[in-house]
Amino acid sequence: MAYGIKVFEHGGSDKLTHVEFDLKDPKANEVTIQHHAVGLNFIDVYHRTGLYPIDPPFIPGLEAAGEIIAVGSEVSDIKVGDRVAYPGGPLGAYCSHRNMPASSLVKLPDHIDYETAAAMMLKGCTTEYLIKRTFKVEPHHTVLFHAAAGGVGQIAIQWLADIGATVIATAGGPEKCALVKKLGADHVIDYSAENFDEAVMDITEGNGVDVVYDSVGKATFRPSIKCLKRRGMMVTYGNATGPVDPVPPALLNQHGSLFMTRPKLMDYYATKAEMEEGTNALFKQILKGTIKININQRFALKDVQKAHDTLEARKTTGSTILLP
Ligand SMILES: NC(=O)c1ccc[n+]([C@@H]2O[C@H](COP(=O)([O-])OP(=O)(O)OC[C@H]3O[C@@H](n4cnc5c(N)ncnc54)[C@H](OP(=O)(O)O)[C@@H]3O)[C@@H](O)[C@H]2O)c1
Repeated sequence: MAYGIKVFEHGGSDKLTHVEFDLKDPKANEVTIQHHAVGLNFIDVYHRTGLYPIDPPFIPGLEAAGEIIAVGSEVSDIKVGDRVAYPGGPLGAYCSHRNMPASSLVKLPDHIDYETAAAMMLKGCTTEYLIKRTFKVEPHHTVLFHAAAGGVGQIAIQWLADIGATVIATAGGPEKCALVKKLGADHVIDYSAENFDEAVMDITEGNGVDVVYDSVGKATFRPSIKCLKRRGMMVTYGNATGPVDPVPPALLNQHGSLFMTRPKLMDYYATKAEMEEGTNALFKQILKGTIKININQRFALKDVQKAHDTLEARKTTGSTILLP
């Protein structure tokens, strides 16, 4: 019997409900995967609460790794026994087994284990598109990256340090700041204790940064805008404190002809080719040893309520995985 965690109505973590189900045979274009590890992501919270509207009932989760135990009649590139992972759905990763389109999966290189894959696929691919394609960071750039001790944050800081950019990071509290400094950030600001926009201007001697990556959302958007250089790029890509209030175009003009984008993973991983290119770039960084995936929290899948509570309380650092 397979099992999973289902949301029957939007709300708090108490709406995450254990269910059992019979696993059907995969359709012609599908495979059956037995999950060995599932990634926890902040977007799972937005799905659970209804901030990103998905009609219940649904099984949340967009990231997992496991082994293929059956393949549909038209699947030719994946076979039983293959080790696979996926970075962005389709929704439904919070379960022990599932059927899903073979086209959503990538095969794992030998050197990447299931737990590491589940901890890095969505977060690492997000980092890849943000710093390589949304704004292509180069060594001469100065970058401000918020929530740097988190899942996406830790991967991003290490990757940016490898590129050789000047990295200014923020995190909540001295312990998180110390962690981020060790990952290679040049400057770390405890944005729970000081105004980060003033600190950024001090660090950059009034020049500002080329790009801001802001996933904190409502609470940090306006001060983040103040941190940008003339013609800088505001990348607002998350809502940990709530969605950003509407932005008048004139604001971008007043702060120096700024650019702004609100990207999402699925628009950068829209085709199989894009997915393979992005995941290969990520795997290469892991192989080079320039990015270490820090799995700092592990929960049994059945304890997922506790995992959500811990994430929302800002008590996690690095990646969190759920074990079926
Ligand atoms: N657009 C995309 O394609 C995309 C893809 C993946 C992730 N994201 C976004 O990237 C962000 C990071 O995702 P993640 O899964 O790696 O999560 P995470 O960074 O591990 O956790 C979120 C972090 O946000 C910070 N935060 C600030 N205010 C918060 C609040 N009121 N409540 C909770 N957290 C708060 C906390 O760090 P401090 O305590 O240090 O402030 C917390 O650790 C999320 O906003 C997510 O939605 C976007």
